[in-house]
This record gives sequence, C-alpha cells and structure tokens, in this order.
Amino acid sequence: MAARRGAFNPYAASRKRSEQVATLRLSDTPGGIAQAAALLAEGALVAFPTETVYGLGADARSDRAVAAIYGAKGRPRFNPLIVHVSDLDRAEALAVFSPTARDLAQAFWPGPLTLVLPLRDGAGLSPLVTAGLPSVAVRMPGGRLAPRLLTAAGVPVAAPSANPSGRVSPTTADHVLDGLDGRIAAVLDGGPCAVGLESTIVGLTDGTPRLLRPGGLPAEALSACLGRPLAAAPASAAPTAPGQLASHYAPTGTLRLNADAPATDEAYLGFGPGHADLNLSPSGDLVEAAANLFRHLQTFDRLATPKIAVAPIPGTGLGAAINDRLRRAAAPRPTTPLPGDGG
Ligand code: TXA
Ligand code: MG
Repeated sequence: MAARRGAFNPYAASRKRSEQVATLRLSDTPGGIAQAAALLAEGALVAFPTETVYGLGADARSDRAVAAIYGAKGRPRFNPLIVHVSDLDRAEALAVFSPTARDLAQAFWPGPLTLVLPLRDGAGLSPLVTAGLPSVAVRMPGGRLAPRLLTAAGVPVAAPSANPSGRVSPTTADHVLDGLDGRIAAVLDGGPCAVGLESTIVGLTDGTPRLLRPGGLPAEALSACLGRPLAAAPASAAPTAPGQLASHYAPTGTLRLNADAPATDEAYLGFGPGHADLNLSPSGDLVEAAANLFRHLQTFDRLATPKIAVAPIPGTGLGAAINDRLRRAAAPRPTTPLPGDGG
C-alpha cells in the first residue's frame, strides 16, 4: 500500500478509542518500513512481524503510547511488557547486563529469547512498560523486518502479541487485522512468522538464570550455552513473604480503594477534579490515569507515605486494568493471589 504521510495523525494515542479509522497495511518495502518507523516514533501503534509472532508496538518511552496498547488490546490487566531493541548497545542502555546475560544475548540475539534484567537507572522507559517493577524484559527480535524497523524507528519498542486480550497470538498480518483493524495505526505485513510461538523468557535478576516462560528457543539450547540447566521460575503464585511477589509491583504503603475523601492520616490519590496529593487525571481521562498510575505509586513510595486513600475509578475501558492493579496493590501481601496473567 502506498505511503500516506501528513501533518495530522488520526492514530495518535491521544485520540479517543471510539474514533475508529481503518488500519493501514504497510508493505515489506523500504517505504513501508520507513512509514511504520515514522508512525512508531510519533507515538502511534504499529503491529509488526518478529520471528515469533506479530507484536503490537509502541514507543516504550511514551506513557500515552504504551497506555494505548492496553486500550487497543482490551487487556484487563497491566502486565509488564517486553521491550524490543535493534542492538545490544540499546539493550544495555535500558538494562544492567551481567556477564551471563551478555553471553546469552551474544549467543542467541537476534532471536526468540527475552531476558528479564535489572532496570537501568535513567533508562527513560514509561513505568507502564515495567508495571512499576525494578526489572525490564528486553529482546532483540529476528526475522527480516523487525531489526530493520527497530533501527529505523530509533526508539525502544514495547510490544505484546498483536491480538485482542484472550485471543491467540497472530502469525500473519491478516490475523492481526481480524482482531485489531480500526484500533491501530498500521500493520507492517511481512508474511507468516517463522517460529509461530512467543519468545522464551529467562530471568536473570537474582544471579540465577531462571526459565520464566518456555517459548521459541528450546531450554536445552540455553542450558548448553550456560553449561548448566536453567532453574525454575520462582513460585510467584504463592509468595512466601511480603514483597516477594515475583512479577507484581507492590507499594510500600497501604491502599484504601474507592475512597471519596482521605482520612486525616491518609494521603489522597485523586481522579477527576478536586483536591488530591497526587492526581491520576484531574480531567478524569482514563488513558492519562493509566499512564500516571505506577509513577504516582512510586512517588508515594519515595516519600515513604504509609497510608494512601484512592479515589473511585470507573470500571470501563482502561479503568478495568487500573482497578485490577489497584486491587492487587491493596491486597494483604503474604496471601496475594496472582491468577493467570496471560494476554
Ligand atoms: O515473542 C514474544 O515474546 C512476543 C513478540 C511480540 O516479541 N511478545 C510477547 O509479549 O509475547 P507478551 O506481552 O505477550 O508477554 C510478555 C511476558 C509476560 O508474560 C510478562 O509477564 C513477562 O513477559 N515479563 C515482562 N517483563 C517482565 C518482568 N520485568 N519480570 C517478569 N516477567 C516479565
Ligand atoms: Mg500474548
């Protein structure tokens, strides 16, 4: 399809979701790649092929662009997302690589391997990408188009699989459009994905390489490279002590939800007009509130705020994911259940 450039971008993340427009199908040509890269760099959502599955990409530094991923997918939960980069230098700007992490990256990148590593200070990622965690998942995808797209875009790209929540991961552009036509700016059509299964995720945040998700790279290949078997994922479904949740951010203060006003010993996290210590969105915009959620909770952490009352948030649209995250953050720590996080 011909490139369509213009001053006005009808797909910008700030547009309301109800304002649907047809999704561009961009071709596997230098022009198609350049247009996809330009859309990503200006904050629009672009689905693109990797060697594993099609990803739904957004500029990982932009709160609004990342929040729009959740809107487009209709995802009811904020899970941390994988950040896709074009080279190891860019990955090292986002995450702290141990020698083991570097060995794995050098052996298997570009390829179907995601590494969960300590988040680097000043990485500049939206806290929505890491869901407030001190770690980040990074990968350098393979395939014909993804490396070229990422190089051209020049920004780190957050990308879950490009399917509506609850549907299977897409491996062709038609499959992406079946689910997301009208909800995203464009899909870069690179034909079918070679692997067809998501990347293998290895966690390296505690010194021990752990298999967090089996995927397109066999665990045996990783073990052979490491010279030892991969350890199992920590039993995150049943954390044994407060603060031990493997993949969920928990604030240090306690949260009281659906509070119309704070008690005298509480700070107030507002939504909509009115006084608040911090406000998720003074205008009551759920996209803005999603973008501010982890940032504001982290600010309360930094201030060591012990008690936080949270204003009621509507349960529609992105409000469902915001409320899910707030409920998890408010639950008693030692017994917090972590039901399935897929999507
Ligand atoms: O092949 C793939 O990995 C595809 C393509 C598009 O790259 N992407 C993908 O993304 O499968 P998604 O969002 O469906 O899966 C991301 C997984 C989730 O299970 C999430 O919990 C985990 O990565 N993850 C991300 N950051 C994490 C972190 N800091 N700690 C633990 N797990 C993390
Ligand atoms: Mg998925």
